Amino acid sequence: MTNAYDKAFAQSINDPDGFWTGPAEDCHWYKKWDKVLDDSNKPFYRWFTGGEVNTCYNALDYHIENGRGGQHALIYDSPVTNTIRKYTYVQLRDEVARFAGVLFNQGVAKGDRVIIYMPMIAEAAIAMLACARIGAVHSVVFGGFAAKELATRIDDAKPKVIVSASCGIEVKRVIAYKPLLDKAIDFAEFKPEKCVIFQRPMEEASMVAGRDVDWMEAMESAQPQDCVPVAATDPLYILYTSGTTGEPKGVVRDNGGHMVALKWSMKAVYNVDAGDVYWAASDVGWVVGHSYIVYAPLLQGCTTILFEGKPVGTPDAGVFWRVISEHKVKCMFTAPTAFRAIKREDPRAELMKNYDLSCFKTLFLAGERLDPDTLHWAENCLKIPVIDHWWQTETGWAICANCMGIHDFPVKMGSPTKPAPGWNVQVVDPDCNVVKTGEIGALVVKLPLPPGTLPSLWQNDKRYVESYLEEFPGYYKTADAGYIDEEGYVYVMSRTDDIINVAGHRLSTGAMEEVLADHPEVAECAVLGVEDQLKGQVPVGFLVLNAGVDRPHEDIVKEVIAMVRDRIGPVAAFKTATVVKRLPKTRSGKILRGTIQKIADNQQYKVPATIDDPTILVEMEEALIGIGYAKARK
Ligand code: COA
Ligand code: AMP
Repeated sequence: MTNAYDKAFAQSINDPDGFWTGPAEDCHWYKKWDKVLDDSNKPFYRWFTGGEVNTCYNALDYHIENGRGGQHALIYDSPVTNTIRKYTYVQLRDEVARFAGVLFNQGVAKGDRVIIYMPMIAEAAIAMLACARIGAVHSVVFGGFAAKELATRIDDAKPKVIVSASCGIEVKRVIAYKPLLDKAIDFAEFKPEKCVIFQRPMEEASMVAGRDVDWMEAMESAQPQDCVPVAATDPLYILYTSGTTGEPKGVVRDNGGHMVALKWSMKAVYNVDAGDVYWAASDVGWVVGHSYIVYAPLLQGCTTILFEGKPVGTPDAGVFWRVISEHKVKCMFTAPTAFRAIKREDPRAELMKNYDLSCFKTLFLAGERLDPDTLHWAENCLKIPVIDHWWQTETGWAICANCMGIHDFPVKMGSPTKPAPGWNVQVVDPDCNVVKTGEIGALVVKLPLPPGTLPSLWQNDKRYVESYLEEFPGYYKTADAGYIDEEGYVYVMSRTDDIINVAGHRLSTGAMEEVLADHPEVAECAVLGVEDQLKGQVPVGFLVLNAGVDRPHEDIVKEVIAMVRDRIGPVAAFKTATVVKRLPKTRSGKILRGTIQKIADNQQYKVPATIDDPTILVEMEEALIGIGYAKARK
């Protein structure tokens, strides 16, 4: 053994029970587990079976009982409303306990689902923790999704109650949430009994009598609720994420394994202790928000920051530096796209000079590939370690990272460093054979996955097995491709499915194609993710129209763009489409997406031997030049 990482990693793989017992002992249990890793029902592995816990107790009450009641638990910093509100652990616990009383009064009990469709306000975190307190299962839906997407999630999760707010604020625009919620409930087959609405002064929502309850009024009459013990294996939340079709996957997270892994990760991965200030600049609607705005920092006894703003424009590209210095942030986590946005506005980081950043020790980035320019820029400006780490909604925490609390490895450009303890990452070929060092293949993880990862999809074990476990027996398929070098560094290159990453947001091109195909004049279509300087990737649509359509193409393009915005939401950032005569295909009829993508990204490509008619590629190139891609970009 050469260092603490090698030792920890080896134990995590060879003796997972021994490895995870220590971190589990660090948490509060009403009843200790019978088994650490329960592999009695393969391939469904469970952690800490027989144990009873409460995640909210561990995130709040536990710290109060251990002397942290007066420490700030959460700082809500909202440049879009000029508000900074600080909650101590006692204040946050009291708000959460009272809101748990509101949910209780609406009939929510252990195991019931609650959908939370909210902007980045403290009440979103309060609602999440209140669910955890009474053993209800929350499902947070990101605010940038359209009513149809929300409706799909309502039908799948069947929530007893939906918690929402009257509006969100996007830089300077007020986005009314309540009409979207009303529309979603209209679309959905399943109807929630009650909606609890937090009224914001910028836009008051109209309420549906008998169904809608005002947050503030309901709080006044609610009795604070105590924590309810739940089984370690009971679900804490469902988080829907893009799959390869329009049907999102309901990733489930349990209580026990999640609590143990996340608390442990705060020190092991981020090198953060109780009392430190930690900031994940993401959104509670994404997994980063669940894990590292809400649960992990609170489980560790940190102060977490909930930021309602953007890296630029609220009010300027110096806002990240303002938040870091004002609240004494030690460790920050965001997506590379946020730094690209800042770099574009303030390339010489002039605004950084206005702030004392001496408290700031480490920057963690994830959500998409970290491009060398962004890494260098951040390192040069900040002069602190900039750590890339790789993870997914499904995994809940980092698969690969430079685990700063265990051993600080030298950074290698383009690599999120090595597998975190618990993650037996391998690279395999299509026949599931492990490839040679340095060869590209499918990145997979040998089962069992560590605690904190998805035990299954919400009420859909079959889809869980089909999506993740079937293609490479004995392994979890990450659907990322990459390689491992001779020193064990992992390189994540691209997705192997139709998922694209737009400004750190995960989207399915398949879902967008389903929308385009619904346009009555579209005969065939393809959506691809092409390179974008700011967002990493953006979707571009190619439409083949029905014979005889003679309306102006611009009109049809506008209509499909509006359809995607309306059905998936503004977050899809679908703003470019073009009409083509035909799509390049193989002789067997498969669209040559890889080739179109290479043309769009202005990369070298070979004319595939299987193509039915190579002249189509010239047509595609012309179409792409027409919308600002391919050769026209250079
Ligand atoms: N509610 C309603 N609309 C929302 C929304 C929300 N919560 N979040 C985003 N949108 C809208 C935006 O207003 C935008 O609408 P527009 O097309 O009318 O301009 C659209 O969805 C796309 O949003 P976004 O992808 O965020 O692009 P942007 O141009 O507004 O901002 C960045 C670009 C890079 C500044 C921004 O994406 C960002 O800060 N990213 C940080 C990374 C991050 O949070 N990643 C999450 C995982 S770590
Ligand atoms: P999400 O589920 O939204 O977190 O998206 C997960 C996907 O984002 C992964 O499967 C990767 O394709 C991509 N991703 C996340 N982090 C990284 C990273 N550090 N490097 C490369 N790709 C990443």
